[in-house]
Amino acid sequence: MNLITLNQAITYLNQGDLVAIPTETVYGLAANALNPKAVDQIFKVKGRPSNNPLILHFYDLQQALPYLTSIPDDFHQLYHKYCPGPLSFLISASSLVPNRITAGNERVAIRFPQHPITRELLKELPFPLAAPSANKSGYISPIEPYHVWKQFGTSISGIIDGGKCTAGLESTIVGWSPQNEVIIYRSGTITQLAIETTLAKKSTLLSTQSKKILAPGMLSKHYAPKKPCYFFEEIEDIPKSFLTVNSDLILQNNNSSKLALNFNQILHLSTSGDLVEAATKLYAYLHLCDESNSTSILIQKAPNQGIGMALNDRIQRAGKSLT
Ligand code: TXA
Ligand code: MG
Repeated sequence: MNLITLNQAITYLNQGDLVAIPTETVYGLAANALNPKAVDQIFKVKGRPSNNPLILHFYDLQQALPYLTSIPDDFHQLYHKYCPGPLSFLISASSLVPNRITAGNERVAIRFPQHPITRELLKELPFPLAAPSANKSGYISPIEPYHVWKQFGTSISGIIDGGKCTAGLESTIVGWSPQNEVIIYRSGTITQLAIETTLAKKSTLLSTQSKKILAPGMLSKHYAPKKPCYFFEEIEDIPKSFLTVNSDLILQNNNSSKLALNFNQILHLSTSGDLVEAATKLYAYLHLCDESNSTSILIQKAPNQGIGMALNDRIQRAGKSLT
């Protein structure tokens, strides 16, 4: 793997090159957001449509302020409670934000990642980092350096090794309607309930199946393995025909003993059904199963509450329903 140091990353980023960076959510494919060639390179290397905007990453609010206008009051409450952390905000962009970052939208997505190495990097750099997840467009997000390496190899300048991501799912994305209603555009490990409790107001969660696709990344095919992948709720829902094919089975907890012989491998997201732990393993297991010698992947949905909602959002985008 082309692992690089923080200082090498600074040199590469100053030159307009691409570097994979660790964050607490997933690894990002970072470039100088103010360098048009560097940003174009992100779209090219990822195979990402140019109408899908990028998140700007900052060390703190002071760094971000020049890029923003009309910040909602709610933002400050969420910033103080959760940042740095796995939360992104859609805020009106100032004229300093390049159009190719927002894909022409009036708002820019901003985030203050928590990972200490990336914080050090952001503190040093004189420009924000544009950083989508470091995966090919539509494929499973990376939560360790190897996941980045296997997709990009030497087509990027290097990967900063920050270990495994501690949250494991992309940041929650929050924004506001013109009437100041809170809208959650992407669920994550900071839950809808946590946001509503902090702000003492209700919010709207745009679901995976929502007809109103307001962010291009809300498109339902996303985060998907190359193999056929199917989700289900109860083990009993798995049709008999699937018990004899060479599938990998990903379960929420360890309630599988009867089935053990029928699958290529059985993986448990958390033996105790802990959703925080499940979030840290979902993408690692999807990568593992996509590389195994099975022909398909079966994955159980989580209880639809708290972080389970974010897990189910990603599971539904990774596959099709079995039932
Ligand atoms: O946790 C994360 O947010 C990671 C790490 C690397 O920071 N980044 C990430 O970026 O997930 P990406 O590009 O894979 O997903 C960003 C999502 C996309 O669905 C994109 O459409 C949406 O955010 N987005 C970005 N800017 C936007 C904007 N100005 N308006 C609406 N949606 C936006
Ligand atoms: Mg992504």
